[in-house]
Amino acid sequence: MSITQNLTISISSSSSSFLSPSSFNSRSQVSLPVKSVSICKCVATPQEAETAYKTRVSRNENLGKLQAGYLFPEIARRRSAHLLKYPDAKIISLGIGDTTEPIPEVITSALAKKSHALSTLEGYSGYGAEQGEKPLRSAIASTFYPDLGIEDDDIFVSDGAKCDISRLQIVFGSNVKMAVQDPSYPAYVDSSVIMGQTGLYQKDVQKFANIEYMRCNPENGFFPDLSSLSRPDIIFFCSPNNPYRCCSNKGATGPTSSVC
Ligand SMILES: Cc1ncc(COP(=O)(O)O)c(C=O)c1O
Repeated sequence: MSITQNLTISISSSSSSFLSPSSFNSRSQVSLPVKSVSICKCVATPQEAETAYKTRVSRNENLGKLQAGYLFPEIARRRSAHLLKYPDAKIISLGIGDTTEPIPEVITSALAKKSHALSTLEGYSGYGAEQGEKPLRSAIASTFYPDLGIEDDDIFVSDGAKCDISRLQIVFGSNVKMAVQDPSYPAYVDSSVIMGQTGLYQKDVQKFANIEYMRCNPENGFFPDLSSLSRPDIIFFCSPNNPYRCCSNKGATGPTSSVC
């Protein structure tokens, strides 16, 4: 007779710490029925801790290449540690640039009105349109791109640029080499790592193998010299770039046109 006992495992529900192999440790509690008490860990390989029970389902090994989780929690941790040591320090944080202004009332009231309508028979509409609601797409096209021949069908309403960066990587797959501004917003590199486009993280230079880092600094006006690139398949070129907010002022005949 087998005795079924409940095993409680902990998984992290925080999306920002989800990518770190070391982050599967706390937060929400999930109860699973198992035959005997043991530890079931959901971790990407390499798996350092010994576990009594393993599923045979393989994980995406590329997750194991990511270093120290997502960049911004790491910056916040170092900032707090510095403040503990030097409580009077005046820190200019170059970490996550969170928003500081309240959302305009016109937006929050429209959101509230629409969500309340969904709880009525007349206002309930089921799933929305995959590409975004037509009236919204028309309004975006006519408001932001009135003279450019952009129409509602050209607009895709997504759930944010970060998710789109990852989706773009899915289009290209793993057999490509990408170039990225250095420094840059971390989602370009992290999504490239997860897709398997890179080699391992090289601690001595603090870079991933098989990514071309385009150094941006005061000497080159914070613009990479694209003519010196090897021949990457994808160049992520962000203007204005995060974190240093320089805009490309070189126009359509600028550095990018010479490599496309
Ligand atoms: C360059 C860049 N790309 C993408 C994002 C993420 O955008 P979203 O919040 O729409 O996912 C940010 C956010 O700061 C960003 O600076």
